[in-house]
Amino acid sequence: VLCGAACAAAAYLLGSLSFSIIVTRLLYHKDIRTFGSGNAGMTNVLRTFGKGAAALTIVGDIGKGILAVLLAKWAFGAFTAADPIYGAYIAAFCAVLGHVYPVYFGFKGGKAVSVATGTIIAIKPVLILPLLAVFFIVFLCSKMVSLASICCAAAYPAVTFLYFHFVAGRDVVLTTCCAAVIGGLVIWLHRSNIQRIKNGTEYKFGRKKK
Ligand code: G3P
Repeated sequence: VLCGAACAAAAYLLGSLSFSIIVTRLLYHKDIRTFGSGNAGMTNVLRTFGKGAAALTIVGDIGKGILAVLLAKWAFGAFTAADPIYGAYIAAFCAVLGHVYPVYFGFKGGKAVSVATGTIIAIKPVLILPLLAVFFIVFLCSKMVSLASICCAAAYPAVTFLYFHFVAGRDVVLTTCCAAVIGGLVIWLHRSNIQRIKNGTEYKFGRKKK
C-alpha cells in the first residue's frame, strides 16, 4: 500500500510537469493556454509556436509518462510481492491525472494524449503499434489530431483486451478496465473538440484556419 501510494504521488508530480506550458514559457515567455484551442498540449503548441517547440513538448510529455510507469514497475518489483502491472497502471492513471490537473500550473492542464502514449509504451511497447496505425489512418483521412486522438482512446481498451487475452494470456480484466478508464477520460477531455467536429469547425492541419 505504501509503495502504491508513493508511486501514485511520484507519477502525479511527474505528470504535472506540463511540457507545453514549460516549453512555451521558457522559450516565448507566453502561456500556451491563452492561445489557439487553449489546450496545454503538443497540438496547440504545434499550431501556435511551430515544430521545434512541439517536438520538445511531445518528447517531454511522452517521456514523463514512460518514466512514471517504469519507476512504478521497478518499485513494485523491488519492494513488494505484488505484480508490477498493478504499479504500472496506478502510475499510468496518476501521471494522466497530473497532466490534466497539474499541481504546478493551477490545475489547468491538457488532454493527456502524449502522456498516455508514454504510459502505454512503458506498460507494453507493442500496444502502441496498432494505436499508431489508428492514429495515422484517421489523421490522414481527417487532418484532425483531435479526431485521431479520440479514435485511439476508444481503441485503447479493445487493443489492451486483445493483447492481454490472446497474446499475454493474463490480467485481462484489470488491464482492460484501466485502459477503459484512461481512454474514457481522454475522450471526455475532448468534449469541446467533439462539439467542434460535429459543427464542422474543428481545426484541420494543412487547411485554412477557421
Ligand atoms: O492532444 C490534444 C489533441 O487531441 C487536440 O488538441 O489543441 O486541438 O484541442 P487541440
